[in-house]
Amino acid sequence: MKKNNNEKIKKDNFIILLSKEKNFLLKKTKKVVQTSMGFIDIDRIKHYGQKIKSSTGHEFIAARPSFIDILRKCKRGPQIIMPKDAVHIIAVTGLTRGWNCLDAGSGSGFLAVFLGNVVSPGGSVVTYEKEKKFADNVKNNVELCGLGKIVKVINKDAKKFSESEMDLITLDMKYAEKMVKKCWKTLNHGGWLCVYSPHIEQQKEVMKEMKKLDFTQIQTIENIQRSWQVSDFTHPRPSGILHTGFMTFARKI
Ligand SMILES: C[S@@+](CC[C@H](N)C(=O)[O-])C[C@H]1O[C@@H](n2cnc3c(N)ncnc32)[C@H](O)[C@@H]1O
Repeated sequence: MKKNNNEKIKKDNFIILLSKEKNFLLKKTKKVVQTSMGFIDIDRIKHYGQKIKSSTGHEFIAARPSFIDILRKCKRGPQIIMPKDAVHIIAVTGLTRGWNCLDAGSGSGFLAVFLGNVVSPGGSVVTYEKEKKFADNVKNNVELCGLGKIVKVINKDAKKFSESEMDLITLDMKYAEKMVKKCWKTLNHGGWLCVYSPHIEQQKEVMKEMKKLDFTQIQTIENIQRSWQVSDFTHPRPSGILHTGFMTFARKI
């Protein structure tokens, strides 16, 4: 965690206002912002850790936001890979700073920026998106997350990628199975391919292709997460997202 309490907040820095009831993510730009808890004079917030009251008397602490707070503000287009699945890519592959990654399709860019945040500093993510309007949105999301120097967005068919010596390749797109062989050639020895499939039919095709090649540690994982309601009568919440996708991993020998 970076320095927080008493650290001066500069122009354009993000601030998260925390209270028991509500949290708000703001940028130190506008002087006054309207929230559902009243007006807040941002000019009066000088440093992280400072207490600030809204016009209705609601008290907040101004804290430094995390990467996940900012990710929540990113604009969504195509269906995203959620953090609960993205973290599993780290758990299986050991992804860390300095790794070079290739990602396709970018979609809303959520996985690309998630990877970018983990490999920074020193690493890189190249992400391919064939639809211009989605690629433009991903570029905005990359900038919002402050990862412009780490994540490069390419508006092109991913099948035509020309990168080499990758440590990790992530595919979340139709016909990913047709790219398995090219990905194998592109990976470093010990590097990982991860294919995210919303349907089991694609997972089966992908695994069939992986098994033809010199890959090891081939595995498919579905990460099911349940949220619990904790009160006098405690039980798992009856609704929420149960199925997101299958992640199929393979490691180049
Ligand atoms: C489900 S989205 C990916 C979401 C992304 N993983 C995220 O977390 O935001 C799939 C994307 O793949 C793109 N796509 C499909 N085929 C492609 C191809 N051959 N080359 C590049 N992008 C492709 C689609 O346009 C779509 O935006």
